[in-house]
Amino acid sequence: MEILQSAAALQAQTEKWRREGQRIGLVPTMGALHDGHLRLVQAAAAENDVVVVSIFVNPTQFNNPDDFRLYPRLPEADAALLGPAGCTALFLPSVEEMYPEQSKLRFDFGSLEQVMEGAHRPGHFNGVATVVSKLFHLSRPHRAYFGQKDLQQVAIIRQLVADLSFDLELITFPTVREADGLAMSSRNRRLSVEARKKAPQLYKALQLGVRLLEENRPVASVKNEVLQFLAMEEAITLEYFEIADARTLQTVEELTQPQEVALCIAAWLAEVRLIDNLLISAKSL
Ligand code: PAF
Repeated sequence: MEILQSAAALQAQTEKWRREGQRIGLVPTMGALHDGHLRLVQAAAAENDVVVVSIFVNPTQFNNPDDFRLYPRLPEADAALLGPAGCTALFLPSVEEMYPEQSKLRFDFGSLEQVMEGAHRPGHFNGVATVVSKLFHLSRPHRAYFGQKDLQQVAIIRQLVADLSFDLELITFPTVREADGLAMSSRNRRLSVEARKKAPQLYKALQLGVRLLEENRPVASVKNEVLQFLAMEEAITLEYFEIADARTLQTVEELTQPQEVALCIAAWLAEVRLIDNLLISAKSL
C-alpha cells in the first residue's frame, strides 16, 4: 500500500490509473478506523481495481474546537489495518495541503441541512461538502463509499453529486454495531468506561421507537415514549430525537405509504457526542 501525502501525488496517481482503465474506489474517512470503515474498504476492493482511502480530520466541519482537538488520531494503527483490507493507496494530507488558503466557498443545501445535524452543528455540512468535493476532484473515483450511520451526510453528498454532476456512483453501507448494539464510531474511543456502558441505550431507544411504530402508535406518542425512556438515563443528555422522512429528512407527523422513515438520535454521554439512526419502511408496518 502506497502512502500519498500531497494532493498533486494523489492526482497524478489517480490520473495514471484512469489512463490505464482501472476502476477507482474512494473511501473518505477521518481515521481512527473501526470495522464499519473496514467493511467499506473491503467492499471497495471487491468492486473496483484500486482503492484510495483518505484519512483527514477535516477542521472545517467541526463546529466545536474541543471535538476537533480531541478527535482520535491514530495514523500508524490505521495504516496497518488498511493494507489487509484491500486499500491500494492511503491519502494522508496535512491541513495545509488540503487548505493552502482559507476556503471561501459556501454551500446551501436548503431544507436538507436545516434539521438535525445541520441545525445543531452550524457550518458542519459546509465543511463536509467542501472536503468531499476536494477529495472527489483529486481522486476522480468511479465509486465512493459512505456509512449510513451518517444518514444526513449521505443525503447531503447525494445532493452534492447531483448538483455538481460528479461522475461517480455513491455507495452506502448499513451501520456496523458492537455486540451490544452501539453503532461503531471513531468517537466511541473517547467514551469513559461508565459512558461506554450506557451508550447502547441510544440504540435501545431507536429500537423502542421502531417497535412502537410497528404497533401503529401515532408518531407523536412514539416520540414521547422514546423521550421518556431516554430521560430515565441520567448519563445521557439528548440533543434530538426525530422521526423523519428518510429521503427529505423532514420531520413526519404521521406515516404514509409508501414511505421510508428514519429514526435519528444525537446525544451527549459526558463530553462525547454520538449519533445513530434506524430506517423503517412504512410498507412493512
Ligand atoms: O464521515 C466522515 O468521516 C467525514 O465526514 C468525511 C466524509 C470523511 C468528510 O470529512
